[in-house]
Amino acid sequence: MKKILITGGAGYIGSHTAVELVKAGYEPIILDDFSNSNPNVINRLSEILGKDVIYFEGDCNDKEVLESVYAAHAFEGVIHFAAFKAVGESTQFPLKYYQNNVGSLTVLLDFMQQKGVKNIVFSSSCTVYGQPDQLPVTEETPRKDAESPYGNTKKICEDILVDFVKSKAKVRVVSLRYFNPVGAHPSAKIGELPNGTPNNLVPFVTQTAAGIREKITVFGDDYDTVDGSCIRDFIHVMDLANAHVKALAYLEKQADCFYDVFNVGTGNGNSVLEIIKTFEKVNDLKLNYTIGPRRPGDVVKIWADTQKINQVLGWYPQYSLEDSLRDSWNWEKSLSGELA
Ligand code: WQD
Repeated sequence: MKKILITGGAGYIGSHTAVELVKAGYEPIILDDFSNSNPNVINRLSEILGKDVIYFEGDCNDKEVLESVYAAHAFEGVIHFAAFKAVGESTQFPLKYYQNNVGSLTVLLDFMQQKGVKNIVFSSSCTVYGQPDQLPVTEETPRKDAESPYGNTKKICEDILVDFVKSKAKVRVVSLRYFNPVGAHPSAKIGELPNGTPNNLVPFVTQTAAGIREKITVFGDDYDTVDGSCIRDFIHVMDLANAHVKALAYLEKQADCFYDVFNVGTGNGNSVLEIIKTFEKVNDLKLNYTIGPRRPGDVVKIWADTQKINQVLGWYPQYSLEDSLRDSWNWEKSLSGELA
């Protein structure tokens, strides 16, 4: 069975991808330092999969850690999720973000080259587009100056991967530009676990619904959009996870020295206020929200053109926005002591 290293595999998208990898016949090897994830996710994965999941606690920045993982489980591919991802925090501590997000990729690529591991799927983000001039965005849409050091680390990592392939390194790379991941595994055994006060919209919505937060503030309703609030492309995390499996299978068929990039979104844009209204409807509850000032650095509207991933990877979203908002609420309600 092909072993695949998942760095950050106990995290939100990493854990859901581990489930999809097993379903596709791969053996995930999770490496996570649990700096932004909960070790109990490993047990939850075993419950979902009905078998033990191989994992190592450690920092993928550390070559010795990679050596010990590889000695135990010679993996044939990598999905690289491990990165700090809080936009606001990255402006406060840019060096921490550059060292971790960019540094870990260079250590990993060097290690892969030494061991002859060829396939890597990289976790990138639609944040590389900034505020696009045209919508929907295709993969050829020019990338813009990042709004934050976090966003810049994603751009720099994409450039590192392109340059590494251009250097004739024997690697095959796909960068996946995520839009806005939301939702949770239908079992409600794994989901998004924000550290402290959520930065992102949907976990804030679910925590408000759960009474953990008093209310949700809509950051601006005076934008040039259908209802004045920002628009995003919200994609179910299971669909996003499946895109990684499809990307891996695609890479395995390519020649060495290969690079490609795909948008991973639904192709639909929904506004912040639409998310709130849909969440209320789907879950039959009322949310306490107010309109507040705009959040600096916010992109007004962005959603994906998904023709390339549809046609090249044969990937299409299977879950609806309603599924995402139902699953995210079921997950929030399921949160108990050991994972809260
Ligand atoms: C979405 C919309 C907010 C919270 C960022 C990163 C991206 C990825 C996902 C890591 C915006 C509005 C939010 C709230 C609100 N990062 N909002 N009230 O900013 O699109 O993307 O997170 O994987 O790379 O850039 O996501 O969920 O923070 O915000 O009104 O309490 O919801 O203003 O318009 P964003 P988000």
